[in-house]
Amino acid sequence: MKVLVIGSGGREHTLCWKIAQSKEVEKVYCAPGNGGTRLVAENVDIKANDIDSLVEFALINNIDLTVVGPEEPLVMGIVDRFQEKGLRIFGPDKKSARLEGSKSYAKEFMKKYDIPTAKYQVYQSYQDAREDLDSFSYPLVIKADGLCAGKGVAIVKTREEALKTLKEILVDKKFGEQGNRVVIEEYLDGIEMSLLCFVTDNRIIPMESAKDYKKIYDGDLGPNTGGVGAFAPSPLLTQELKKKIEEEVLKRIECGLNSENLNYKGILYVGLMIVKGNPKVLEFNVRFGDPETEVLIPRLESDIVDLFENTIDSSLEPSDIQWSQQSCMTVVLTSKGYPGEFEKGFEISIDDSIDKDIILFHNGTEYKKDKLLTAGGRVLSVTALANSLEEAREKIYANIDNISFKGMNFRKDIGK
Ligand code: AMP
Ligand code: GLY
Repeated sequence: MKVLVIGSGGREHTLCWKIAQSKEVEKVYCAPGNGGTRLVAENVDIKANDIDSLVEFALINNIDLTVVGPEEPLVMGIVDRFQEKGLRIFGPDKKSARLEGSKSYAKEFMKKYDIPTAKYQVYQSYQDAREDLDSFSYPLVIKADGLCAGKGVAIVKTREEALKTLKEILVDKKFGEQGNRVVIEEYLDGIEMSLLCFVTDNRIIPMESAKDYKKIYDGDLGPNTGGVGAFAPSPLLTQELKKKIEEEVLKRIECGLNSENLNYKGILYVGLMIVKGNPKVLEFNVRFGDPETEVLIPRLESDIVDLFENTIDSSLEPSDIQWSQQSCMTVVLTSKGYPGEFEKGFEISIDDSIDKDIILFHNGTEYKKDKLLTAGGRVLSVTALANSLEEAREKIYANIDNISFKGMNFRKDIGK
């Protein structure tokens, strides 16, 4: 079997790594891939949003299965386009992908199906939003409606900051059309948890939970990032909470998907805030999370290709998904300046004495003239599986000294 993975981050390196272990797979391609995917797949120089070229590549190369990493091609409708040509592809169609592509649509969906979430209002005009600002209390969360590469959410503490953010999005069009609307919502104070689920024909089968660290600095300080560390499973997900999430969130999502006549197949990532023991949905993503994938997939004992195939064929069962008892943790090494401006192109040195059981997933790297260089804000995910979270943490931090590049940063408190 030939498999094509679309994307270029740590998530895609992890997927390629796992897919390459499948007995059914003879060849993995990754478009466009990175310095790490090159080690387990053949990189193809096509961008993740160039759907025409991806369709053409899959047809010419007789690709048996395509797996989509990032949200942009999903929201653009890559799944529909592949299916029109009779190509097998794993991911939700365009209609379902709106759950991530439009935050106002996702909030409406949550409201309609009574899925617990933060109180909110949607605005298209700066004037209207400004007039209503006094009815909210601070801190307050302002979200651009569309896809903004993880930069569309601002947590503001004052009216002045709120006005500035609203003006940037609605008047100055900082995010272009993606900011034609904003969602203003109540700030939820709690603990975040990522629950990734397989979904086949609107039937939700949750994976184990993961904890993602979103803030750039230790102690959860500083601006939000795409995620700079993670571990799984999350001890936060007790049996009691699991039951609540199933009843109050997942069943209601299933009901909503059915009532809206969607036919969801793929991954649904439910971003949760646990507030005083109660789950509230922050967002939906229609894809695997990054870096959650880096800590979930190494614990997966099942053949991931079977899971993708059974999802497409509507035959996936919970018992198909088997997990190891081990804990997995990852610490993301980042470029100086990330999540703001950063420089790239610095050589990465990895000492041979690094422990052999450390898994290095590449987020943003590339090879140039046989040298491994930094190529993104998030560079490498240093990952370990161990019998306990504590052991994984010790292993990772003891090994990070073996890796260096100019301006390398990382959080020292992941898993603590
Ligand atoms: P989103 O893309 O909607 O998940 O937002 C990105 C991040 O912003 C989340 O992972 C949270 O850390 C934070 N966030 C979003 N909405 C809220 C909220 N209502 N209250 C507190 N934090 C939030
Ligand atoms: N780690 C957060 C995300 O993938 O959206």
